[in-house]
Amino acid sequence: MEILTLMRPDPSFREEIISYRAESLEAEGYINGAGGMDRFPDPADWLEFGQRQTRRETLSPGWVPSTQFIYVRDSDRRIVGLIHVRHEFNQDLERYGGNIGYSVRPSERKKGYAKRMLADCLAFCKESGQERVLITCRTDNEGSRRTILANGGVYQSTVYKPEAGAMLQRYWIELT
Ligand SMILES: CC(C)(COP(=O)(O)OP(=O)(O)OC[C@H]1O[C@@H](n2cnc3c(N)ncnc32)[C@H](O)[C@@H]1OP(=O)(O)O)[C@@H](O)C(=O)NCCC(=O)NCCS
Repeated sequence: MEILTLMRPDPSFREEIISYRAESLEAEGYINGAGGMDRFPDPADWLEFGQRQTRRETLSPGWVPSTQFIYVRDSDRRIVGLIHVRHEFNQDLERYGGNIGYSVRPSERKKGYAKRMLADCLAFCKESGQERVLITCRTDNEGSRRTILANGGVYQSTVYKPEAGAMLQRYWIELT
């Protein structure tokens, strides 16, 4: 089985961050689980921003403490996915965003990477003392729904998010 590692991004991934961002924006116009990557063309700025969101003293307005991970394929050091853990809720996250957001690079999808990335991230959450996590997905996002269910997600409710004009399903995953 391929070796994939969940790790914190650092400057050695500069070119990979640039290409992940470009590929995602070109394919979809947005990037999930990226901690604001779409707003930062220069990886150094994204890395610095992410670092600031890890500490309460340096949070941006409206942000809660969070940890950004990249999912890296060992054989070619390719970033195949991004996953972002929100350690607390604000009103929006509690209802719509949940604790964890993620994406897999468009050219690397349907290889089982999302399921593995979420499993590795849940292990991190558990080690960090989190007892359960909320993950949400649009009702029409079959890939994400299956990723959540494969990792023990238990359906809780469906809500309408007016700003997105979308119905979102909410799932809890128990970590204890
Ligand atoms: C959703 C996403 C993360 C799935 O990534 P992935 O690496 O392709 O997923 P996996 O290969 O691990 O597949 C997980 C399951 O979903 C299924 N799946 C994946 N993409 C699918 C699709 N487009 N349609 C239907 N099923 C899909 C797989 O067959 C697999 O199902 P199984 O467990 O029954 O075999 C990826 O499509 C993505 O990044 N989408 C855009 C961002 C996004 O939607 N993020 C989640 C926000 S809630």
